[in-house]
Amino acid sequence: MLDNVEHFYKGKKILITGGLGMIGSSVAHKAVAMGAEVTIVDAVKEPYGANYFNVDSIKEQIAIVIADIRDKQAMKEAVKKKDIVFNFAAQVSHNDSIADPFLDADINYIGHLNVLECIRLESPNAIVVNSGSRLQYGPILYNPVDESHPLDPKTPYAFNKVVAENMYKYYHNIHNIQCVLFRIANPYGLRCQMKHAKYSIINFFIGQAMKGNTITIFGDGEQKRDYIFNEDMTDAFLIAAATPSSYGQVFNLGSGIGTKFSEMAKTIVEIVGKGSVEFVEWPENYLNVETGDYISNISKITSTIPWAPKTDLHDGIKQTIEYYQQYYQYYF
Ligand SMILES: NC(=O)c1ccc[n+]([C@@H]2O[C@H](COP(=O)([O-])OP(=O)(O)OC[C@H]3O[C@@H](n4cnc5c(N)ncnc54)[C@H](O)[C@@H]3O)[C@@H](O)[C@H]2O)c1
Repeated sequence: MLDNVEHFYKGKKILITGGLGMIGSSVAHKAVAMGAEVTIVDAVKEPYGANYFNVDSIKEQIAIVIADIRDKQAMKEAVKKKDIVFNFAAQVSHNDSIADPFLDADINYIGHLNVLECIRLESPNAIVVNSGSRLQYGPILYNPVDESHPLDPKTPYAFNKVVAENMYKYYHNIHNIQCVLFRIANPYGLRCQMKHAKYSIINFFIGQAMKGNTITIFGDGEQKRDYIFNEDMTDAFLIAAATPSSYGQVFNLGSGIGTKFSEMAKTIVEIVGKGSVEFVEWPENYLNVETGDYISNISKITSTIPWAPKTDLHDGIKQTIEYYQQYYQYYF
């Protein structure tokens, strides 16, 4: 990490909601390495990615609070005296949000409102980072997608992320709470749940290939996606929170590169050396919310903070496979 960023985090008190999951735990590892005092809040909810093994090697250096971000009293306590709050707790599946829109709104909107209100009352000087999604854009009109692309969210997950982002902007503009807002592309990498395909599809496909199974692709697999390696992504969160020119800004966070779905799956099978790929018809409920090709325009973030993605897809997939081969028993 850059020297000035390391200096910034030394001794800082950090809260990470959803900190037992993929992104939150990875931020925790890096923050601890830079000398920050880290507290994690996580509700350990199924079917999301909470996994104690994600923080096993730093468990003596962090505080873990098992609580729900919707719990007013618990969050009031958790945000007290914090310098930075990374808000990663979420209902993460856009398909599940169709099945249970109330749960999605409750966690992804009301839960985040609760965290922000607690920050306003208890720690108004804290810097707050939000983790939105590329799905906020809905159907894609042009690529690469910049932050001015129209927002036309198609699922409760996507529109709750849009209203939550507006809520963060409100707290930034009206209550002067420094917020940094991200729209994440398709993340993958270390510390992700490997049990289901509800999100982080690369990880699920890696798991399928490792078990020698067939990877099923809906349609012809020609649709392009922007895959961002978790280690690169978490650097961006940490650097942005340490860079005042990013406060109040919305950033796309991706690799800036579009890869065909079929190509991604074939790369996995090739590197794992097991598994196969098959193509089937799109199920109707998936087709209804399909957005078309998505490639992030990342020029805003790369020109605002000293960050650029470092890991190409082949290398990121290889590192991910090596991690799960080593720690198979903790994720499968
Ligand atoms: N993984 C993706 O594909 C993806 C894509 C775009 C955006 N995001 C966003 O990134 C953030 C982090 O996702 P992730 O990939 O690390 O997912 P994850 O499932 O690995 O982690 C989410 C964590 O939040 C916790 N959690 C869920 N509801 C909670 C609640 N009410 N209170 C406290 N904790 C709760 C879960 O137990 C889990 O540990 C989320 O906001 C998600 O919407 C993820």
